[in-house]
Amino acid sequence: MKANFPIAHFREIETPFYYYDTNLLRETLNKIKEEAGKYNKFCVHYAIKANANPKVLRIIRESGLGADCVSGGEIQAAVEAGFPASKIVFAGVGKTDKEINLGLDYDIFCFNVESIPELEVINELAAAKNKIARVAFRINPDVGAHTHANITTGLAENKFGISMQDMDHIIDLALEMKNVKFVGLHFHIGSQILDMGDFVALCNRINELQEKLYARQIIVEHINVGGGLGIDYAHPNRQPIPDFADYFATYHKHLRLRPQQTLHFELGRSVVGQCGSLITKVTYVKQGTNKQFAIVDAGMTDLIRPALYQAYHKIENLTSEEPVETYDVVGPICESSDVFGKAIDLNKVHRGDLIALRSAGAYGEIMASGYNCRPLPKGYTSDELV
Ligand code: LLP
Repeated sequence: MKANFPIAHFREIETPFYYYDTNLLRETLNKIKEEAGKYNKFCVHYAIKANANPKVLRIIRESGLGADCVSGGEIQAAVEAGFPASKIVFAGVGKTDKEINLGLDYDIFCFNVESIPELEVINELAAAKNKIARVAFRINPDVGAHTHANITTGLAENKFGISMQDMDHIIDLALEMKNVKFVGLHFHIGSQILDMGDFVALCNRINELQEKLYARQIIVEHINVGGGLGIDYAHPNRQPIPDFADYFATYHKHLRLRPQQTLHFELGRSVVGQCGSLITKVTYVKQGTNKQFAIVDAGMTDLIRPALYQAYHKIENLTSEEPVETYDVVGPICESSDVFGKAIDLNKVHRGDLIALRSAGAYGEIMASGYNCRPLPKGYTSDELV
């Protein structure tokens, strides 16, 4: 079954471009609200890094989610999209003074701090502004995730977070500082996680750490478990909305919260992944020695996930209904890794056919580059193309 696309509109737009199905985005957001809303004090943020297209951001903000940012640019994008500062969190191992000052000026909800030197700088900069910065500590829980090595983040070998052994020390430091207030613990073990067992392992580790803190009479205001819920790249039509019921129920069942604590999530891919497609046009069909290539006008500059993570985005020929043939689908960039798929069965391809690369709403448009002096792809929503 092919997805339903407004092909007539697509023919009038210069390719390649991103297309966002806003009905699916809204349905996904409604499902998140419905499932998270079953539990008292679950609070969901959207990880802006997945997609910061202003039109997409506005829809997400309208749904009431908060924003998880990792740079001054993302804080700015969140504010411009209307996210209230009281719902903005700021993470990242290398926050610059300028970015910290921006967060302080907006009075954001919380800085997710990743090291002792960073805590010291936040305290100094807050003092200079006569403010008190709310801080959570990102703890590296040393929990592996069954996903691609480039997107696991919660192992001791990764650069992220404060080691569990240093947790007590950094808390002691924070409690003595005058311009920070220690309010939470933050975790994130990786992305594209489909095995709920990985999240259970995280819950167990957080329970252990919380016990240590209770022993010191410390109960933080909130626990932030990051994001990471994966999507079905192989079958985007089968279940376009991820299983949020199972995801939130897993945390409800396995994480022991104190009554006064809130639980925060930072979902990126699972919010926007399935609603986006990269639409591209076939420039040439080329006969190789023992295979045929469909050369399209999108490249790894527009969607880098296949080249970077060996990811596969389902490819569909939107134009042709002719019997299926087998193709390597490649872009025009001067790199051998500029390949979207090898030996892919597609309805017979012709020059000018429109091709969709599915499930590209997350880490697609936002990771585009101008390599080979190519223009950045534009993004259109279904709201605009009616
Ligand atoms: N919170 C933190 C601290 C993160 O580092 C991330 C993602 C998220 C939340 C959101 O995770 P999500 O729900 O999207 O899994 N470019 C890669 C993914 C990198 C993820 C980085 N961190 C990809 O295309 O697969």
